[in-house]
Amino acid sequence: MQVLGLDVGGTGIKGTIVDVSTGELVTPRRRLPTPAGAEPAAVAATITQIVQHFNWHGPIGCGFPAVIKDGVAHTAANIAPSWVGTDGARLLGEATGHPVLLLNDADAAGIAEMRLGAGRGRNGLVIMITIGTGLGTTLFMDGRLVPNAELGHIEIRGKEAESRASDAVRTRKRLSWGSWAKRFDEYLCRLSALLWPDLFILGGGASRSYEKFAPRLTVGVEVVPAKLRTEAGMIGAALAAADAFPELLS
Ligand code: BGC
Repeated sequence: MQVLGLDVGGTGIKGTIVDVSTGELVTPRRRLPTPAGAEPAAVAATITQIVQHFNWHGPIGCGFPAVIKDGVAHTAANIAPSWVGTDGARLLGEATGHPVLLLNDADAAGIAEMRLGAGRGRNGLVIMITIGTGLGTTLFMDGRLVPNAELGHIEIRGKEAESRASDAVRTRKRLSWGSWAKRFDEYLCRLSALLWPDLFILGGGASRSYEKFAPRLTVGVEVVPAKLRTEAGMIGAALAAADAFPELLS
């Protein structure tokens, strides 16, 4: 039972074949740079290259950095504005010739972590944050996904949280892990005061350096690193597509 899992990010588009009964990667991942501007046709062409690289025939799950409802993108914070209103599932389905389930990238990562990683068996309110080009957020209440939470855009000190505390901002402003951690901690404290979660799971690129910043967090909520680290998005997208297209699994 295999599905091709894809994760579209601000700098790279990654793919791998996932065994959806175990969540294991069947192949090494393939990563291509996100085309400049991230226009729909260019992203579809890059994804088609990844599909051809794996000589893949079958269902595809794709995490995408936008609000996605029934395959249609509704926001475009770090991608081309022309995505808004685009039926991405249809576009990618036509480009690749295979059925595509499109979902928000943080939701995809959260699905994988809740089923197979750091959120396994956890009830109450779990908030996962993917720290990358943006701040992706996903909410699970008693294991059930509340899709398309866009908490990376709440305002802190007059700015969007992701433009103060994403990993892209840390690198662009050359912030030390200490100064970045202060900003990120303020963000966690704000989310905590608004939503009172039981657990924060931190994923995305910055989670590779979890040990460097975690000791500096003061938020009074349990915080753990994502177990599937930067692979969670691809794995979760594949798991979600397996649920969406059960009749196509082989
Ligand atoms: C987008 C989210 C996305 C996150 C991580 C944000 O800018 O609004 O939809 O999940 O970036 O890619």
